[in-house]
Amino acid sequence: MNNEYVNSLRKNVKKAFKDDKSRYHHTIAVANTAACLAFAHGADSEKAFIAGLLHDCAKCISDEELIHICTANNIPISEAEYASPYLLHAKVGAFYAQNKYMVEDEDILNAITYHTTGRPQMSLLEEIVFLADYIEPYRNKANNLNTVRSEAFKDIKEAIYIVTRDTLNYLKRTGKTIDSLTYDTYKFYEAETCDRDFLIATDN
Ligand SMILES: [Fe+2]
Ligand SMILES: [Fe+2]
Repeated sequence: MNNEYVNSLRKNVKKAFKDDKSRYHHTIAVANTAACLAFAHGADSEKAFIAGLLHDCAKCISDEELIHICTANNIPISEAEYASPYLLHAKVGAFYAQNKYMVEDEDILNAITYHTTGRPQMSLLEEIVFLADYIEPYRNKANNLNTVRSEAFKDIKEAIYIVTRDTLNYLKRTGKTIDSLTYDTYKFYEAETCDRDFLIATDN
């Protein structure tokens, strides 16, 4: 890992989160968890760490400002994002990563863009950051957290299936906005894990 570069990124993110210590702690936890998942699955741990460091870099921006940044920079806003503008912190985070933190790597930028909703057919890095955000050690509210934590290191697609299923149930239960991409991600990973289970069953 290019320690000097990564450390300067970390310091800049810390500065940006100066009024929100718990957000900074979450950020470091996601970066570390993403790097560990990268070790387990043979992904690039430096990219995973950087994506983790920057995934919430737009989280401190107000709803009005998020909409303004998107409008001014031709970043499309979905219906769900208009209803719950905080969702835009993912897209604006990728925009900041590229323009403020000078990250050029497309895979890192996509991992930031899709860290909240996921998307069908994510890259391994996207899958890692999506899960790291959900399972980092400070998280303590979600259902099935222990199962997802251990599954994330063994069967990453199964872990994403469980996370998206539980997230949709939570959003329905609490009446919160559901981004259609979350539903699409769930359907994709449900089919992935079912198809694979079917193949395993017919093999034996
Ligand atoms: Fe986030
Ligand atoms: Fe996060």
